[in-house]
Amino acid sequence: MKKTMTSIREEFPVLDQQVYGHDLIYFDNAATTQKPRSVIDAVSGYYEKDNSNVHRGIHALSHRATEAYEAARARAAAFIGAGSEKEIVFTRGTTEAINLVASSWCNRYLKPGDRILLTEMEHHSNLVPWQLAAERTGAELVFVPVTGDEGLLQLDRLDALLAGNVKLFAFTHISNALGTINPVAELCRRARDQGVVTLVDAAQSVGHAPLDVSGIGCDFLAFSGHKMCGPTGIGALYGRRDLLEALPPYHGGGEMIRKVDLHRSEWKGVPHKFEAGTPHISGAIGLHAAMDYLDEIGRKAIYSHDRELGEYAAERLRSLRNLRLLGPPAERAGIASFHLPNVHAHDVVSFADRRGLALRGGHHCTQPLMKRLGLESTVRASFYIYNTKEEIDRFVEVIEEIQAFFG
Ligand code: ALA
Repeated sequence: MKKTMTSIREEFPVLDQQVYGHDLIYFDNAATTQKPRSVIDAVSGYYEKDNSNVHRGIHALSHRATEAYEAARARAAAFIGAGSEKEIVFTRGTTEAINLVASSWCNRYLKPGDRILLTEMEHHSNLVPWQLAAERTGAELVFVPVTGDEGLLQLDRLDALLAGNVKLFAFTHISNALGTINPVAELCRRARDQGVVTLVDAAQSVGHAPLDVSGIGCDFLAFSGHKMCGPTGIGALYGRRDLLEALPPYHGGGEMIRKVDLHRSEWKGVPHKFEAGTPHISGAIGLHAAMDYLDEIGRKAIYSHDRELGEYAAERLRSLRNLRLLGPPAERAGIASFHLPNVHAHDVVSFADRRGLALRGGHHCTQPLMKRLGLESTVRASFYIYNTKEEIDRFVEVIEEIQAFFG
């Protein structure tokens, strides 16, 4: 990494604290990451100096707010390799971005008997919106199975599934529950070969790895700011411009219209026709600062750091007796998910919390995946730029302590 670990850690004020008398070890990054000083300052700087509504005002503050908001959109386009800022719709996050496509695209194009292809490892945010769309349109959901504990997609089944009247294939880039890194470009190519539209859930990848939508070849891609050092409540949908232009609006209201009569209205062009109401201006500005911050470190460096930690944690956990480690044997993201047969995941997380260690226990919003693995929950440690191998050593010590305590 271009910066040293010490300088990175110093840039995250929240890390400098003790929890129950222990130095905080924050391993819940798949749920949300911490925010560097530059992001905190960008958000408070906007409220201190520029706060105003965007697009509608003719005064100086409104110009500044509009410029900053639209600059964040251009930055997001560059960050993911989109051809134009018109291909970036700001949303509340990944969930809303997926709901937008599941609503606007599915309502326009799907008919009874059509199929939407998903995978068994999807987060609820990339499952429930499609269930609602299927209910509305009469379409059917089909799934690429996962192999079992190692959590890989059964790709030998993909072409046959795609050929079965599938119109849209939505899948995660990195699994939040397993740490699996899916071969997104290959999945998009195989879908495209059969004329199937693709949506990539990049919630766990966009802040962790180099990502370029033109290289991936996807039609839509969704991500959240808060999982990549940015604020909560802001994220984006990337959509190929011709696809976005053909879609009806998702929400109606102010900001997204050109002309309104009592009985009908005309919309703005893309992307604004999808952004009804006052947007999350400070969120977009914070997200801009987060993208700058991550690129200053370098996403290639972040990717290898996270994977090194993921693989180190997996190796250390594999050496413990009576522990079922989930996720791929190699090529793992910075996520280690496991099950201790005699201890409930919530007990593990509560015990660890008393040692200053923030883990997550539960179904991780992937109940069907848990069912497939024959589990109700797992314990998950997820890593990011400011985490270290020393912290993983301490985490393994705590897990050993828990195993001894619960027998
Ligand atoms: N998607 C988030 C997680 O995996 C909430 O924890």
